[in-house]
Amino acid sequence: MKPLGIGLIGTGYMGKCHALAWNAVKTVFGDVERPRLVHLAEANAELASARAAEFGFEKATADWRALIADPEVDVVSVTTPNQFHAEMAIAALEAGKHVWCEKPMAPAYADAERMLQTVRQSGKVAVLGYNYIQNPIMRHIKTLIGEGAIGSVNHIRVEMDEDFMADPDGLFYWKSELSAGYGALDDFAVHPLSLLWYLFGHVEAVTTDMVKPYAYRPLKEGGRRAVENHDAANVLMRLGGGISAVLMANRAAWGRKGRIALQIYGSKGSILYDQERMNEFELYQAEGRGSEQGFRKILAAPIHHPYDRFIPAPGHGLGFNDLKIIECRELIRAISGGPASIVTFEDGLRIEKSVHAMAQSFHERRWIEIG
Ligand SMILES: NC(=O)c1ccc[n+]([C@@H]2O[C@H](COP(=O)([O-])OP(=O)(O)OC[C@H]3O[C@@H](n4cnc5c(N)ncnc54)[C@H](O)[C@@H]3O)[C@@H](O)[C@H]2O)c1
Repeated sequence: MKPLGIGLIGTGYMGKCHALAWNAVKTVFGDVERPRLVHLAEANAELASARAAEFGFEKATADWRALIADPEVDVVSVTTPNQFHAEMAIAALEAGKHVWCEKPMAPAYADAERMLQTVRQSGKVAVLGYNYIQNPIMRHIKTLIGEGAIGSVNHIRVEMDEDFMADPDGLFYWKSELSAGYGALDDFAVHPLSLLWYLFGHVEAVTTDMVKPYAYRPLKEGGRRAVENHDAANVLMRLGGGISAVLMANRAAWGRKGRIALQIYGSKGSILYDQERMNEFELYQAEGRGSEQGFRKILAAPIHHPYDRFIPAPGHGLGFNDLKIIECRELIRAISGGPASIVTFEDGLRIEKSVHAMAQSFHERRWIEIG
């Protein structure tokens, strides 16, 4: 396969993460062609040029449509705010490019549906940025559950919390606009939903409460603006096989920095995981003498593939950006026609459907079955 030509739209938090992944994927995995970093787009020309030089891209533009029209670009990374995903991903697919789009798909369900229709018509590969499923520890948890290590799973709790919106005096920015989505649901709940999907399948029914801890936020230019969405949400859920689950998401939770705490309870044991300690998990198996029963902490090691591709020594640990490198490898595998561990637009749309059902259940104060 000839080297893939890469286009990157957006160079903030996730843009840099994608750039690091495109730069590292050959070095880490070896068995791929080194991608060619062709074209980078930002909101203005000066920033685009500066970032292209830093990230190693050949061309820079303030017009993302010029990037999509570039015949040397084969794959487009879309890392802009949520409200741009649909327009940019659809344009890229229509131009015959593969797409790696950050989560969520789009604030409006109809836009997410159009994204799926376009990818189906294009025959191209489209992957969503649900990096947490790529953790080697998460892969091992999935294997353990499949092997019946904790028996039949009946109850799950998952909490996703950070504190970047915990300060009541934090400035109003795009994440507080309704055009970016419901708030904690689109921003956060989609990540735990991707993990639940990866481990157990899609959610079947939900009922939700949402909270807006700060109704107004200060503006950079002075004055205050009304917050349009909710920073925290609590959801009761039903999954297939009679599994009950609780999801809590809060982006205004002081002290929480990157928490995705998963508790999985089964008939023969339990598994605990927290993204803040992403290189370990705890396993409880109800076997042997009761006097020695207890949770065992297991550290990430080369035996948990593909940890071995990064470091030959156990216990040294991967980082958040490494999950994106693994996701990038899976995307390239999908483009090559191989089986890949990715969240496609098909599965992504079902995650979006769950989020919209959660918001609907909040507004209508009732359970919603997700068809
Ligand atoms: N997968 C994850 O773990 C994860 C984590 C954080 C954010 N995200 C997602 O990534 C996306 C971006 O979030 P972020 O935190 O990186 O935001 P950010 O604000 O840090 O970066 C967004 C970038 O897009 C640029 N941009 C805006 N409009 C543009 C345009 N028209 N053309 C070109 N560039 C433009 C901005 O200048 C900015 O540099 C969001 O959809 C978010 O949900 C995913």
